[in-house]
Amino acid sequence: MISLHELNSLPAAQFAAALSGVFERTNWVAERVAALRPFRSRFELHRAMCAAVEQAAADEQLALVRAHPELAAQQRPGTGLTPESTREQRAAGLTTCTPEEFSRLTHLNAAYAKKFGFPFVFAVRGHDRAAVIAALERRVANTHEHERGQALHEIGRIAAFRLADLVDEPLGSAIIAMADELARLSDRPQGLSCSYLTPAHRATAARLADWMLAAGLEVEIDAVGNVIGRWRDSTASERTLVTGSHYDTVSDAGRFDGRLGILLPIAVVSRLRRAGARLPYTLTIVGFAEEEGVRFKSTFLGSRTFTGRFDPAALDCRDADGITMRQAMVAAGLDPAGIPAAALDPRKLLGFVEVHIEQGPVLLNAAAPLGVVSSIAGSLRSLVSITGLAGHAGTVPMPLRHDAAAAAAEVVLAVEKRCSGTPGLVGTVGELQIPGGAANVIPGRCELSVDIRADRDELRDAAYASVVAESESIGARRQVAIEWRKVLDVAGVRCSSAMQQRWAESIGRVTGATEVLRLPSGAGHDAMVMAQITDMGMLFVRCGNGGISHHPAETVSAEDAELAAHAFRDFLLNLPLPP
Ligand code: GLV
Ligand code: MN
Ligand code: MN
Repeated sequence: MISLHELNSLPAAQFAAALSGVFERTNWVAERVAALRPFRSRFELHRAMCAAVEQAAADEQLALVRAHPELAAQQRPGTGLTPESTREQRAAGLTTCTPEEFSRLTHLNAAYAKKFGFPFVFAVRGHDRAAVIAALERRVANTHEHERGQALHEIGRIAAFRLADLVDEPLGSAIIAMADELARLSDRPQGLSCSYLTPAHRATAARLADWMLAAGLEVEIDAVGNVIGRWRDSTASERTLVTGSHYDTVSDAGRFDGRLGILLPIAVVSRLRRAGARLPYTLTIVGFAEEEGVRFKSTFLGSRTFTGRFDPAALDCRDADGITMRQAMVAAGLDPAGIPAAALDPRKLLGFVEVHIEQGPVLLNAAAPLGVVSSIAGSLRSLVSITGLAGHAGTVPMPLRHDAAAAAAEVVLAVEKRCSGTPGLVGTVGELQIPGGAANVIPGRCELSVDIRADRDELRDAAYASVVAESESIGARRQVAIEWRKVLDVAGVRCSSAMQQRWAESIGRVTGATEVLRLPSGAGHDAMVMAQITDMGMLFVRCGNGGISHHPAETVSAEDAELAAHAFRDFLLNLPLPP
């Protein structure tokens, strides 16, 4: 392996030589990007190399595609393979084809080459022979134009896998670089917004899947879109520790909420595997497809699928454009009918752990990089619809109005008033709309969300009930109809004391701290859903910038990410396997 720092400082010719295996038998790609150094991450280097390929002349691109060997062709005498190709083909089982498979591949390879004039290029990482043959059968039917694009796409993926094997980066900066990379995939041109099943969300899933493959995991995307990577050594028990978090985001989000808890385990496992470590149990890393509830107002879809608690009624929820969740899933190539079968078997679980940015200032103020989560606050969320009477802004006298927005304003203040002054209780109106509103029209309708949370469920429920009652009197006084529809009701949970203890010990060992901070989480997490089926524990990582989150300024330092990765590694290596 070679460090990014070294790649950045080598003379250009040596830099190109060090990267000569990344694009098959092709040196010009590395040569053309040498002058663009320094690269801040291997992803930046990869992007520059792919851009060089994209900008190359058509005949150069074709030569690059043609530089690739036929898959399984090494079984024919006299065909030399690069060391990279040899490793990749061996891992996919292409060196041990049965005579039937070999003859099928030879036939398909020949048909493909005859039709397109170049060999079949496929990033075989994570695939077995049957999958390679199936892909070849599928792709030989495509058009020339499609396959040319596909070949270059696969070449970019192969290069990413090879760079992951070659370039060594400190754990902390590798994690930050991955988060930065994912933040480039957004629903909007500015900032990071990644809501369920949008093109950016699917592209994020594909990147996560490739990074899991690069780390040596077996990868699957389930029916709801959860990206699942499994590490199970041949001698490991089927008993499984699950870790992960969500990859969807709120609108204009920070880049660590959710994603840190997927990327950090991927980075740690990649190191452990490279070092030849083994775990006595199975480890599953999951990128949950949906937690925030942005698009369909229906939350925790990923973890509810894992726990067998996905409510099929959610499939009929519509987004702001009227698209149902079911339609969005089918359009994304997911099969809603497969959701029940995607549930985990709780009997096989050792527990669920989630690494998450704290999203608040407690660790920052305590000058502690890491903390153990003691409990997660429960939350209630409702969509409130207020119907008054629209009218002309210039003609209707004030006492005769039934203004839905004015009533909403009173509800907003009622939430704020009721939830202020009680420690542990918080209430928020985060969405507030006058559908079809105009400056010269009295609002006839207003829609808002109400989110109430507390460290104790009784406190939360009492506050919710009194805000609903208050809204009824506001409605009666103003003669507007106020309708509440509960979209989330999740009870607060305590993290398992055994898991808390293990996290505390791991933090103590890696930071040297004698007193480890334990703190409750005001934010909701997939862990609270997973706690319904297994032992659950969470690690919080310090949030910079005053603790701001659900905001683009959300940040984690590379040093803290590194420490958290060491704590996670320590946790994995010390988790006992019960008899
Ligand atoms: C998730 O971010 C939540 O706490 O709402
Ligand atoms: Mn969030
Ligand atoms: Mn989160």
